[in-house]
Amino acid sequence: MTQTRRILVTSALPYINGVKHLGNLAGSMLPADVYARVMRLKGHDVTYICATDEHGTPAELAAQAAGQTVQQYCDEQYEIQRKAGEGFLLSYDWFGRTSRPANHKLTQHFAQMLEQNGLIASQTSKQVYAVDDGRFLPDRYVEGTCPHCGFEKARGDQCDNCGRLLDPVDLKNPYSAVTGSRNIEIRDTEHLYLQQTGMQETIRAWVNEKGVNWPSLAVSIANKWLDEGLIARSITRDLSWGVKVMSADGTPRPGFENKVFYVWFDAPIGYISATQEWAEATGNDWEKLWRRDKGADQTEYVQFMGKDNVAFHTVSFPVTLLGSGEPWKTVDKLKAFNWVTWYGGKFSTSNKRGVFMDTALSLLPADYWRWYLIANAPEGSDAAFTWEGFQAAVNSDLANVLGNFVNRITKYCASKFDGKVPEAGEPGEAEAWMANELATRLKAIDEYYEAMEFRKAAAETRALWAAGNEYLTKAEPWVKYKSDVDGAAVGVRAGINLAAVFAIIAQPIIPDAATKVLDALGIPKGNRRWPDWQDNGLLDAIPRGAPITPPDVLFQKIEDTQVAEWTERFGGG
Ligand code: 2FM
Ligand code: ZN
Repeated sequence: MTQTRRILVTSALPYINGVKHLGNLAGSMLPADVYARVMRLKGHDVTYICATDEHGTPAELAAQAAGQTVQQYCDEQYEIQRKAGEGFLLSYDWFGRTSRPANHKLTQHFAQMLEQNGLIASQTSKQVYAVDDGRFLPDRYVEGTCPHCGFEKARGDQCDNCGRLLDPVDLKNPYSAVTGSRNIEIRDTEHLYLQQTGMQETIRAWVNEKGVNWPSLAVSIANKWLDEGLIARSITRDLSWGVKVMSADGTPRPGFENKVFYVWFDAPIGYISATQEWAEATGNDWEKLWRRDKGADQTEYVQFMGKDNVAFHTVSFPVTLLGSGEPWKTVDKLKAFNWVTWYGGKFSTSNKRGVFMDTALSLLPADYWRWYLIANAPEGSDAAFTWEGFQAAVNSDLANVLGNFVNRITKYCASKFDGKVPEAGEPGEAEAWMANELATRLKAIDEYYEAMEFRKAAAETRALWAAGNEYLTKAEPWVKYKSDVDGAAVGVRAGINLAAVFAIIAQPIIPDAATKVLDALGIPKGNRRWPDWQDNGLLDAIPRGAPITPPDVLFQKIEDTQVAEWTERFGGG
């Protein structure tokens, strides 16, 4: 028995504005869920926390467009995202909201600590002011031409074309994203700045220490920022929706009455505050996960995110945590993903390109998408979603390789052995071959999951299912049955046991289908734990004579007509 580990898992908090597309899902929430499930099955003490990221200009702008107050809009969207997560079987221990009081309080606390430590200073700066709108235009409230690549619809905070982070005042030909007004002036306004410069060496040392457990993509992004030199970043904005800026005595900070903290300042704090929400609601202890003075050094903290989030998690958020001077837990393992593209391009609701989480579930059950997205995880590089690839993965991996195996063996057991795990017969050469396959591949799957190599873990899982089919071809119970019923019995017994193992290891990726198989095989809930590859009793794990029933068809094949219809509806090649 291995030692129980305490593991905190977080996936990047999805922005509140709108249901996420398959690419968002594949680059953070889904792999985090798979990882959390694997670790739970191994008996570890896992807490998987996520939340909606509700502040910032995207929320305000989307609410305006929907003709709602921001609060109404966020309440509604939160429910939609919560349901979509549930539909996709994301096993969050808690799905919180950064707009909840816990996050406001904690964000204000961090600001206070940072200020006490000399890491926050108020500075006057130039901001984009829309004279006709009568307001400053932070971040996405202003659009214009990117100073780096010339893209004409760059947003104030980032250029969607070249990906560079921007300062709104750098945009050429700026205009208000709300009214389109080009009556723009650059005016002075006061904001709080996080003095990251003073943390340069601390962060560098921290990255050197922690980065040994991160993939090279994450380390290189962090180092790029450090090499460029950390600069002071403004952490307040001229907005009304967000965490209010307070004085030390808890009253609104003079001069900041119409300002709030920048969304990227409060969002990652949401990891902690959502854990607090969870603890409060369930009677659990959040401090052992987050406070090093309360045992969090014994917690492994694993973060999942898309590559665009890495700088915030390896530099800005650590500045907040370490700069507070308090013993906060920081990330141990960080898994970053490239993009899932839609046929090499962007997902876009308005251009009818791509499938979003809610629509996906109206087409096919979660398992189908989960399998495809994990088997094609954008790990080494971007990965393109294509209907053809999706169809091939479902029809081949799920329907032919796994589905057929389970179907063949359970039906045969039902018809020839009265639906009971056969008792007779001794294992021979074919079983020895299979036992070896099992040990080798289970070990590999285990190592891939530990290393958070999801694509490889899925490929190896599929290879093990395929080995099961090969085993049946070698063992040939249906042929043996004619002359040697006991010989056939061994093959069926091994086959039923394999079906159980295949389902057990499939649980993290395709939890619904796996549960169907395990239920049909009568495997008690307590016996669905992750298998130990060294345990050679795997081919005899279900008691002989135990009754089984063939499950209903596990996966429907995707027809060419469906591919044609979906390509028409959601775009394609
Ligand atoms: O990129 C995004 O979708 C952000 N909402 C991620 C935030 S992660 C965390 F820091 F909150
Ligand atoms: Zn650009």
